[in-house]
This record gives sequence, structure tokens and C-alpha cells, in this order.
Amino acid sequence: MNERFQNALRGEPQKIPPVWMMRQAGRYHRHYQSLKEKYTFVQLCKQPELAAETALGPIQDFDFDAAILFSDILFPLEALGMGLEYSPGPVLDRRLETEADLQSLRPHADAIGHMQFQLEAVRLTRARLPNDKSLIGFIGGAWTLFTYASAGDHGGHLIGAKTRQKLAHMFYERLIPLLVGNVELQLQGGAEVVMVFDTAAGELAPDLFADLALPLVRELTHIFPGKIGYYARATTQDHLRYVRSIQGLAGFGVDHRYEMARLLQNNNGTGSNSDARNSPGERGNAGFVQGNFDQALLFLNEDDFVPALERYLRPLQILSPTERAGWICGLGHGVLPRTPERNVRRFVEKVREVFA
Ligand code: CP3
Repeated sequence: MNERFQNALRGEPQKIPPVWMMRQAGRYHRHYQSLKEKYTFVQLCKQPELAAETALGPIQDFDFDAAILFSDILFPLEALGMGLEYSPGPVLDRRLETEADLQSLRPHADAIGHMQFQLEAVRLTRARLPNDKSLIGFIGGAWTLFTYASAGDHGGHLIGAKTRQKLAHMFYERLIPLLVGNVELQLQGGAEVVMVFDTAAGELAPDLFADLALPLVRELTHIFPGKIGYYARATTQDHLRYVRSIQGLAGFGVDHRYEMARLLQNNNGTGSNSDARNSPGERGNAGFVQGNFDQALLFLNEDDFVPALERYLRPLQILSPTERAGWICGLGHGVLPRTPERNVRRFVEKVREVFA
């Protein structure tokens, strides 16, 4: 396991934060591209040796502190019988639009058998990973998976999903037990923490977010306390309040819309307007905070990239290690296709240089 990553999970103060980026194994990376010349995306996910090889590429090339399982959030929908292809983006061959559509889904007790490939993938990745690196598992968030199931993607205004809230809750009765089993597989295989990527959940008003996105997270943290992290894009402080009130949550990620320094101070009860300080019991719930450099800025040319990164890091350098405790340094979202590799490498190096 990686010491910096483990320290961050435990909220131990440390000088240098661990670095991990969502989508660190992906299309921007030559290692991934060369694998894609020989294999399809689905083969890379479902053949455990290939999944391990894909996940290890960015560790070898960029020396991230943690690897993340190479897979996709949509396989549980396929396991439920929804038919999934990638060409190259995901295409489901069915839609969930009515209660009748639910009846034709595969029962979750059968569906979990279709996720076994992830157990092997996590095991092999763990086995091949150097001892001083950590391993993260992941699943999709309930709301994001419902948007895919009902609308085929998570873009646009989400009208199809937002107007079918009752259907969402009925779908969750099947989906949540499957995802519990899915997380169990990944933890069994050796994942140290499992992230719930709920990309589309920030599109919900905060009270609906609590109602439609968080039931899964509450269920998971109840069963696997200290093992679950949560990320949604474009959340606000109002969404975060609900996230941070979840007992047993290991931590959460945020995008670049937050000021990381202030968020960390408040999370650790050291900020000037900290709500945690006013209610001391809350600190134990806060956990790690992952993020949040704007991934678009990785496209800057060499002369401009380092100053932009330094500017991002400056308010964080001013914090003490105690104030920064729990920080996992990464991006606001994930690495984009065509991102120059040299800036990814420089990012990891620079963070270690600045906090050394
Ligand atoms: O982070 C990693 O390196 C692990 C791998 C990972 C992938 N997908 C591999 C992938 C992770 C963590 C994901 C999560 C995921 N998948 C999310 C949540 C996070 C996010 O980015 O919003 C979502 C919404 C998906 C669904 C999905 N899978 C989409 C929309 C696409 C196509 C477009 C895209 O962004 O690449 C995929 C395919 C996919 N998943 C690829 C990879 C490397 C690209 C496949 C290819 O064309 O080679």
C-alpha cells in the first residue's frame, strides 16, 4: 500500500499529498493507445490480465501513488440484461421508461455472476502492482446509472430521468443490491477504497440529490464503513452538506469549482468559517477530499502550464500539513483524450517538488 494514500484516507497530516487522476488510464496515453491497437475496450476490461496491464501503464509511466481498476461504470447495467456496446462511446440496446421495463431485467442475484471478471481484474492488478502503490476500485453512482438506463447517456437536461423519479426508486431496489455485491467483489480482490462516480448527480437540486443519489451511498457506507468515497461533478456546498453528513463515508471528490484550500480547512475544522469547528463531532465524518485542478489546463503549452499549476498549488502550500490532512491531489474531473502526456508527468513531479 502507498503510505501517502493511506495517510490521506486516515486523515493523517503529511507534507506531500498522494496523486491520483480519474481516467489516468485512457485515450490520452500511448500505453493505452498501443493496447487499443490489438484489443477492444471491452476486452481490456473483461480479460483480467489486460485490465491489470492497462491499469498499470500510468503507474509505470507517471508514478501515480494509486492505480485504479480498469473497467467501466456501465457493466452492472449490462449484468442486469440491458445489452451494452462501445462504439466508441457506450450504447445500451434497451431503455428503462416504464415499470413494465423493470420486469424484464435480470434479477440481481443472477446479475452479480456477470461481474465476477472484476474480482479477477482487481486481484491481478493488486498482484502486479508494486508494494508501495495503492489500489482504488470504483462503481457508478445510482443516479448516473439511472440516467444511462432511462436516457442512454448522462448529458443534456436529463428530462427523461428527472421526470421518472418513482421509476428510479423502483430501479434502485434491483440496482443497489447488485452494486453492494459489486463493491464487495472489489474489496475482496484487494481494493483499499471504492469510489462511487456519480458524474450526473450534481445536476439535481440538493434535496433531490439527497433523495435520488445518496441512498446508494448510505447503504454502502453502512455495510462498508470507511471504504467508500463519493464523487459527483458540478456539486455546490449545499450538495456537499448532505454528502458530509453520511456516517462512515471515507471521503469525497470535488471538481475545479471549489477552492480546495478553503474546503480542506473547513473539512478539518481549522477554517475561519468552519461549520465543523462549531460542531466538533462532525470532523470524523469528513474524511479525504480528492481534487481538483482543472483538467482543461493540462492542455496549456509547456511555458504556461507550470505557472498555472503553481498558481493552483500556492494557496495549498500556505496551509499547514494538519490543515491539508486528507487531501488526495488530482483533477476536477478526469484526464481528457489528447491531453499531452508531458503535462501529466510534470503535474506529478511538480506536486512532489512543491510540498517536499
Ligand atoms: O480512471 C481510470 O483510469 C479507470 C477507468 C475508467 C473508465 N471509465 C475507462 C474508460 C473509469 C473510472 C471510468 C468511469 C466512467 N465511465 C464514468 C464516470 C466518470 C466520468 O468520466 O464521468 C462514466 C460516465 C463512464 C461511461 C463511459 N465509458 C463513457 C461516457 C465512455 C466514452 C467516452 C469517454 O469519456 O471515454 C466510456 C468509455 C471508456 N471508459 C473509455 C475508457 C478508457 C474509452 C474507451 C475508448 O474509446 O477507448
